[in-house]
Amino acid sequence: MRVTRRTTAAVATATALVMTLAACGGASSGEAEPSLRTHTDVGVYTWWAAGVEKTGLDALADVFEKQHPDIRFVNDGVTGGGGSAAKDHLQSRLENQDPPDTFLVHAGAELDDYIADGYVVDVSDLYKKYGLTDVFPKDLIDQLSTEDGKIYSVPSNIHRANVMWANPSVLEANGIDPSARYESIDAFIADLEKLDQAGITPLSVGTTWTQVHLLETVLLGTLGPDAYNGLWDGSTSWTSPEVTAALENFKTVMSFTNEDREERDWPEATKMVIGGEAAFNIMGDWAVSAFDEADMTLGEGYVAVAAPGTAGTFDFLADSFTMTADILSPESTEAWLETVSSKEGQVAFNKIKGSIPARTDVDRSGFTDYQRMALKSFEEDAIVSSLAHGAAVPVAQLNAVSDATLKFVGANGHGDVSAFQSALAASAG
Ligand code: GAL
Repeated sequence: MRVTRRTTAAVATATALVMTLAACGGASSGEAEPSLRTHTDVGVYTWWAAGVEKTGLDALADVFEKQHPDIRFVNDGVTGGGGSAAKDHLQSRLENQDPPDTFLVHAGAELDDYIADGYVVDVSDLYKKYGLTDVFPKDLIDQLSTEDGKIYSVPSNIHRANVMWANPSVLEANGIDPSARYESIDAFIADLEKLDQAGITPLSVGTTWTQVHLLETVLLGTLGPDAYNGLWDGSTSWTSPEVTAALENFKTVMSFTNEDREERDWPEATKMVIGGEAAFNIMGDWAVSAFDEADMTLGEGYVAVAAPGTAGTFDFLADSFTMTADILSPESTEAWLETVSSKEGQVAFNKIKGSIPARTDVDRSGFTDYQRMALKSFEEDAIVSSLAHGAAVPVAQLNAVSDATLKFVGANGHGDVSAFQSALAASAG
């Protein structure tokens, strides 16, 4: 059993220092000193550190402070979209017995290792206490539950990963119908070629995790939902010819992307579409808030459709929050989880984040057109689990996929599909 990392003796000195930090505005992302916290703080670890993601987190923190005025929200996260920098950093904090009180994690397989290592606490009792079991969709409860029926996190929202964003003016100027839907990756590639010849960046992408995101949608668009799901339960072989075809597609699609991808996180890749430098981008629907922020209207200023070949499927992920083991104040953390799960918290947060609330019993009248589209898809379409965002595989497998992708794409368009395929097969164990 791990030792409790904070002693009560440290707390008295800490209080004064926290006041100083707070007075200096020091409790901003990545700067919080968790060991300086008191019983009335909750240190919240996310990677929502900039732009619209931070605005969403701030909105949730505002609700928290209203609901629990005696407890202080401490923003204790790091930067790096998709949690790209967070996972290693968090792991070292957990190993060094300096964990945040609660951390952002994706519902699904991503939780497995944290549970096995004893870093997170079973919060099923809170589901009973706050009546949560019936207000979240059954699919989500299943994703969150372990085989022995325990639940280790509380979801704030549901995102769709397989969304393609496009700039209609760029498409029209290049003879492409902005209302076109791509039934297959082949049809999509034909238009990417057209745009390339016109000297436009056909598809924008960013650093490795966004490439893994793209890979996921190309796998889904090539294999279809059943065979894609089979990659995670072992019924689809990673070495099959279908997967080879999907990886060939990925290689072709990647050849139509911007070369400065390693310098961009998702907001910078999305901005290429907003500014008309690129025609398309494939990203989860947190990107909708970047279009909103640029005052663009769905259907006029931008287009959002299912990624090529994935219509009829909702590629699912859910952000959720844990209660970490061995923390100073489980009570303060419970208060945070209560806010995350509350109607008011879910509405305020999701309005900004672009996702749909995890709760099914919230007032939908304030939803945007995009949110209504996503909700309809979630209710009617086949649901599959996101690879890049922790729903489908544990952290170690995703790390191996990311390393393989980095190597493949880093070979400057000369990536060896067969070596890539073997590395992906190996990642699945
Ligand atoms: C995902 C997360 C989203 C969003 C995105 C980009 O993993 O679930 O909420 O934050 O990363 O950073």
